[in-house]
Amino acid sequence: MNVNVKQLAAEKAVEYVLDGMKVGLGTGSTAYWAIRKLGERVREGLKITAVATSRASEEQARELGIPLVAFGDIDHLDLTIDGADELDKELQLIKGGGGALLREKIVASNSSRMIVVADESKAVGTLGKFPLPVEIVPFAWEWTVAEIAKLGCKPELRRNGEELYKTDNGNYIADSHFEAIESAPKLALDLQSIPGVVEHGLFIGIADIAIIGKNDGSIETI
Ligand code: 5RP
Repeated sequence: MNVNVKQLAAEKAVEYVLDGMKVGLGTGSTAYWAIRKLGERVREGLKITAVATSRASEEQARELGIPLVAFGDIDHLDLTIDGADELDKELQLIKGGGGALLREKIVASNSSRMIVVADESKAVGTLGKFPLPVEIVPFAWEWTVAEIAKLGCKPELRRNGEELYKTDNGNYIADSHFEAIESAPKLALDLQSIPGVVEHGLFIGIADIAIIGKNDGSIETI
């Protein structure tokens, strides 16, 4: 069977969007399908307002005619739909493969509900095979990266060809290879205590539901 599992999961999640909701739009190739479906529903008459988590998602939503507002113009969001790089059974996530982790975390944390959409390859027993993205300020990045390495990983500054990759916020990303993260909450605290770290891609206690598209065409909801 030739199924687009990302589309499958994303379109299921869009069923949770109701008239009048304020919706957070995630970033990445799975969130793309959710935004596309939302655009379709808006054309059919669904009334929502949305906040985008990246310039890319903002552009896509604008092209589709989804009404956008700035984060500062609303008090809270009802629902955010976003992808993940890894997720475990406790709905702990690694995010930031697409570089949008800071805005994604702000938006998801201010949403009554966050739905994660993913294909089955993202569901893991232990987080950490996917290098954990850590957003850091450019000032003294060498020192910040060395401090991150002391937590037991190999951090690698993300590049965009010859250039260092810059986030929508003008920061760098250290993709930190842990291989296996024994305690995500402890690592989150350790990372937060390093000056220079703006945010990390561990989402703990933020996601409420995961919708996972499977290669056989079925959907698993956690
Ligand atoms: C972007 C993200 C994405 O949600 C994550 O990288 C998953 O992307 P994709 O759906 O393309 O696999 O966190 O910062």
